[in-house]
Amino acid sequence: DLHTSIDKFQFDNVFMNASGVRCYTKDELDELAQSDAGTLVTKSATQAKRLGNPSPRYARLELGSINSMGLPNEGLEYYLDYALNFQKAHPDKPIFLSVAGLSMEENLAMAHTIEDSDFNGLVEFNLSCPNVPGKPQTGYDFDRTQEVLTNLFSFFTKPAGVKLPPYFDLAQFDQMAAILNQFPLKFVNSINSLGNGLMIDPETDTALIKPKGGFGGIGGAYTKPIALANVRAFSQRLDPKIQLIGTGGVTNGRDAYDLILAGASLVQVGTLLQEEGPAAFTRLTRELRAVMQTKGYNAISDFKGQLKVL
Ligand code: DHB
Repeated sequence: DLHTSIDKFQFDNVFMNASGVRCYTKDELDELAQSDAGTLVTKSATQAKRLGNPSPRYARLELGSINSMGLPNEGLEYYLDYALNFQKAHPDKPIFLSVAGLSMEENLAMAHTIEDSDFNGLVEFNLSCPNVPGKPQTGYDFDRTQEVLTNLFSFFTKPAGVKLPPYFDLAQFDQMAAILNQFPLKFVNSINSLGNGLMIDPETDTALIKPKGGFGGIGGAYTKPIALANVRAFSQRLDPKIQLIGTGGVTNGRDAYDLILAGASLVQVGTLLQEEGPAAFTRLTRELRAVMQTKGYNAISDFKGQLKVL
């Protein structure tokens, strides 16, 4: 049984897509909804539709992917409309709405729209998009993060969480957790891509993707140890009322098992889902069940957060 929960929200499978992957159109979202995933999240929305960066803007790598999509999306209204219809059709499958404003004002305006709507799922405030030229990631600016969350939670009352970039220093975990613990967050999602990597085509000595001189977020197997460390570090520092979503480097059931050991209540899949399609959820589900069976576990709660250390 892969049942899990975040706050009052119940899911019958721990797996879902990572925002950005196969969640751009209503057709893609419908495909995710019909897959074995326990739930889904929409493409990070801005207020207005955006076309994003020039192509090529995604490339497969030996151990993952690089992308600089630049926040192409259909605009908040499109995804909110999808979510409102979805919750009517699937009252027992809470959905996530991802929001990524390019300014504090845009984030607050979108939050007001959601607050005033009938949306009854979870909102993922994305503080970690690395790909829009001239727009630094909020999640790497602690004062800014404090300010955004203070303004947001001055009026926003719906269940919400944040998507964070990877951190690499224990002092960053301490500082970010101290900020997050001041707010009524339901979840923290770690991690977004490893921001601004670079890969080169050996035939042509050319950067693999076009935007930003070839710089882009790294996903896939490269990210697994960083994702595990971020989930673990936050699970040790956050108020236990704040659940963790583990994202990064899942290519098989054992990877998901590891994120859950580190403290994750849900597991998001990005690069693998892009490459394999929604059938990936069928394989991951089977593989995670097999690992659990070998270990003698019947439920996610039997091993969630039970990482052993020397
Ligand atoms: C994009 C990439 C991200 O990692 C993210 O969090 C949001 C948007 C993008 O390039 O579209």
